[in-house]
Amino acid sequence: MIADYFKSKKIVISAGPTYEKLDPVRFIGNYSTGKMGYALATELANLGADVHLVSGPTALSIDHPSITLYRIESALEMYDICVREFQNADIAIMSAAVADYRPEHYNDIKIKKNEEILTINLVKNPDILATLGKSKKSGQIVVGFALETHNEIENATEKLHRKNADAIVLNSLNDAGAGFKHSTNKITIILQKGRIFEFGLKDKTAVAKDIVTCISENFN
Ligand code: C5P
Repeated sequence: MIADYFKSKKIVISAGPTYEKLDPVRFIGNYSTGKMGYALATELANLGADVHLVSGPTALSIDHPSITLYRIESALEMYDICVREFQNADIAIMSAAVADYRPEHYNDIKIKKNEEILTINLVKNPDILATLGKSKKSGQIVVGFALETHNEIENATEKLHRKNADAIVLNSLNDAGAGFKHSTNKITIILQKGRIFEFGLKDKTAVAKDIVTCISENFN
């Protein structure tokens, strides 16, 4: 039974965007709303899981006795909490839209518009999903997301293997209503050994149910 499967399991979920600070008033970010991760957190908490939701800045609120919410801003802050909480967790679901790069330097004071062309050096952020995938112990399950625009299945499968994840939830930008700006999503779940499950366009709450059902049925 699905409820029994998740009961008392510790689950780390990342959600939302990350903000990478440039100066006291500016950052590099993205349009992620966090809805997918918050829907997963609510669904899993209702099934009895001990949920640790690591969230970038979002307009969403969540209040559930089984959800511990960590509000962070940057990818490095998200990395630290996810790595720490995953050590004794059963499952990690990384649904955040983590900024791939952060400014090399933070300016203590507001950057002035003196230059015609302003160059900002960016350095790569650590890949949280890949870090968890590579450090996972026997029995731990790591699930990632992939947003692809072309060769979707091929690219998502490559991501599954490269990051040593157990499952990748693929959303294609070619599907109307899918992706991180919408409240609906259309997903394909890719598991190891070439197992693929396709789903129709649904509200993110219904998508969250499909994802947790797929996990409980395939990793029991
Ligand atoms: O490589 P890409 O960014 O497409 O991979 C997406 C997946 O990896 C998502 O699950 C996302 O949360 C995760 N990710 C991460 N840390 C990063 C970049 C992506 O956890 N620095």
